[in-house]
Amino acid sequence: MSKKVLAIVSSPRKNGNTELLVDEFVKGAQEAGHEIEKLCLREKKIAPCLACEACLRNGGTCVQKDDMAGVLQKLIDADVIVLSTPVYYYSISAQMKTMIDRCLAGGAQLKNKEFYFITTAADAPRAMERTMTDLQGFADCVPGSVVKGKVYGQAFGVGEIKGKPAMQEAYTFGKNC
Ligand SMILES: Cc1cc2nc3c(=O)[nH]c(=O)nc-3n(C[C@H](O)[C@H](O)[C@H](O)COP(=O)(O)O)c2cc1C
Repeated sequence: MSKKVLAIVSSPRKNGNTELLVDEFVKGAQEAGHEIEKLCLREKKIAPCLACEACLRNGGTCVQKDDMAGVLQKLIDADVIVLSTPVYYYSISAQMKTMIDRCLAGGAQLKNKEFYFITTAADAPRAMERTMTDLQGFADCVPGSVVKGKVYGQAFGVGEIKGKPAMQEAYTFGKNC
């Protein structure tokens, strides 16, 4: 069955290691016949959540008029969500955190997702566990979520991930998603 897949890239680095892994996932998912969109947060204007909670009172409309409404709709519409981030100080990128916080406006509409997590770091995979836990925290807040796979990419400089096993892992997750 063809699924709607949304792959979020949150690294500010164009064609960086995180994005290269997402591209492999996308390739696999395309070959499997899924409908897939790659969305780079660095190309979007998304302001941090103001915690005004207006969205909780008004049925889910954020008072901030930026690109998040469109991103949120894509998240709501997706069957499969790929969240990818470089490890920054053992956590997620600011771009990813900002997007996640703005999902408050999604309310009960954001539910029943299959998640894949992709992270990259200079250090060994154990350095990525807290980042994975951060992403898991978001999935835990989305009712009916299942985390189907995690990719740990070890690389530092742009493109260093090429040829590493994580590339094949990302492709295989995409192909089987
Ligand atoms: C601000 C910043 C913080 C970072 N913090 C860590 C870290 O805590 N642990 C680590 O192993 N690598 C860290 N790195 C390295 C990146 O995770 C690594 O270069 C990764 O491959 C970047 O992915 P990208 O090419 O997709 O941007 C950091 C890089 C930056 C720019």
